[in-house]
Amino acid sequence: MCGVVGYVGSKQAADWLLDGLSTLEYRGYDSAGVQVVSQSGNLHGVKCAGRVATLRERASVANLNGTCGIGHTRWATHGAPTDRNAHPHLDCTGRIAVVHNGIIENFQDLRRELMAAGHHLRSDTDSEVVPHLIEDALAGPAAGDLARAVRNACERLEGAWALAVVCADFPNMLVCTRKGSPLVVASTEDGAYAASDVMPLANVTSTVMQLNDYDVATLSADGSVSIVDRDGVVIDHPSTITIDWDASAATLGGHPDFMAKEISEQPEAIERLLSGRLGEHGVELDELSLTRDELAAVDRVVIIACGTSYHVGLVAKCAIERWARVPVSVEYASEFNYNQEYLVTDHTMCVVITQSGETADTLAAARRMRGMGCNVFAITNVIGSTAAREADGALYIQAGPEVAVASTKAYTAQMVASYLLAMRLGFANGHMTREEVGRRFAQLETIPDLMREVLSRRWQDKQASRLFRDKHSSLFLGRNVSSTTAYEGALKLKEISYQHAEAYPAGEMKHGPIALLEPGFPVVAVVPADHVHDKTVSNIQECIARGAVVIAVATDGDERVAKLCQEVLWIPQCADELIVPVVAVLHLQLLARYVARDRGFDVDKPRNLAKSVTVE
Ligand code: F6R
Repeated sequence: MCGVVGYVGSKQAADWLLDGLSTLEYRGYDSAGVQVVSQSGNLHGVKCAGRVATLRERASVANLNGTCGIGHTRWATHGAPTDRNAHPHLDCTGRIAVVHNGIIENFQDLRRELMAAGHHLRSDTDSEVVPHLIEDALAGPAAGDLARAVRNACERLEGAWALAVVCADFPNMLVCTRKGSPLVVASTEDGAYAASDVMPLANVTSTVMQLNDYDVATLSADGSVSIVDRDGVVIDHPSTITIDWDASAATLGGHPDFMAKEISEQPEAIERLLSGRLGEHGVELDELSLTRDELAAVDRVVIIACGTSYHVGLVAKCAIERWARVPVSVEYASEFNYNQEYLVTDHTMCVVITQSGETADTLAAARRMRGMGCNVFAITNVIGSTAAREADGALYIQAGPEVAVASTKAYTAQMVASYLLAMRLGFANGHMTREEVGRRFAQLETIPDLMREVLSRRWQDKQASRLFRDKHSSLFLGRNVSSTTAYEGALKLKEISYQHAEAYPAGEMKHGPIALLEPGFPVVAVVPADHVHDKTVSNIQECIARGAVVIAVATDGDERVAKLCQEVLWIPQCADELIVPVVAVLHLQLLARYVARDRGFDVDKPRNLAKSVTVE
């Protein structure tokens, strides 16, 4: 969702701002803009609905000279994605420019009040109130002090915000602040930078500073950054994040798109995650803030997540219940937050799964669980993300930057991370012996090679993708843990190919979705060699009897399935049923990508979607 960038220093600001916005494109957006302060003390900007590429074209013919500026990619919440609603937004004098990520919940009241006082607001956005509040503060209590004016303005706001502000009267200064929405800043020799996340900063620094809620950072042209808290007290040692990957990790590196790259990176991501994890405590998970006794006492686990990460939660439930014998509930964060009667025990542990660590619903749920006295453990990919900072403990999956909006490598790495947690719990509470942990861990270590084998069979997915040509809908089926693979496969297909796909536990098909079946209707059946194999084969037969075209995901050597189905996406033999979802899903990621490419869509930037869903 919305991306914010800012720069002040010795270089031309527009160049880096536009590059920074390109890097943030992956977050999802529908319009973009930049504003630069010229040394003569004027603001110059361009903004437009559509892509950063269009903004670049407009910027190339605009006079954007200046070494201080801000930029924005907007994901519309209040007001349509139009040029007028694109950020930056200006105050009445046209001397203050603001970009905002988040939602100002009391904007209607503020807007009414500002207009009654004679302010002229031009857009339909909630964000536009901010420059006008700053204008008032600069004209009154915070005269001559931009940082203070921003602080004063924020005192009037309710909701969430990451703001970057420039003012023509302060051509060598950029002021940033946040509450709820992500923002990091960096100090370098050639200037100071601000961005929604570390991605645009990776090629200018390896260390970024984090802002706490309500902190206000003043960035200066000499590259210095000074931060004060809500009360104006200077923060001498802000917490920092080290960017531990090379900027090239966020480039295509010869792949046709980021999704292809990230699918292919999964074996190495799992190897990194497992490296050094087997030790004295079975699985070493120092990130947990619970002692062994506290872990042993956990009598309930509540997993909270959204989207793809929710599907990880469903698989994690199987592993934790099977290996640690602890009951697990898995909740959609957006639903959990409004379930007024949620019950927890004294020893309930909460696990939030969020690759971005910034999903607003998941963060709200984690806060609620902490408020109820639960220990909260976050599984996330983004170092220093809000989920990681606010949780009692956080496990970083170390999958490296995931740029494609549709999650692939974070999905499988999060699954394996949840297996590590299940083993740690099982060992702590005595349901798993050291030997069993060792045996299971060795099974996890087979995953990278199994994945490599599936990747080498990608031609099967390409071949199967033609069965989706000219189709409007499809059904994904699976039983037990494979139903989760079906859910994830259908979600991937919907997201990037815009083709409707419905996923169901295979045995539930006859209770409704079977009515969809007609000759030629594509059904994807996840039917590995497991204890429900024969039951799923019966469901495949029910589909074929109604003329459906079945594409199976099956285990090598399954002659029965090969005879029945039109196409088979083969997976190698897996050592345990819980290894299958981590391996089989690669076929469905590849299948979705081929279908989307066949339909001519940009697989990395699907319409309407955002990588980091920072609004509830
Ligand atoms: C789908 C996808 C989304 C995210 C969801 C939660 O490919 O990526 O469904 O899983 O928006 O995001 P995180 O995991 O960042 O909380």
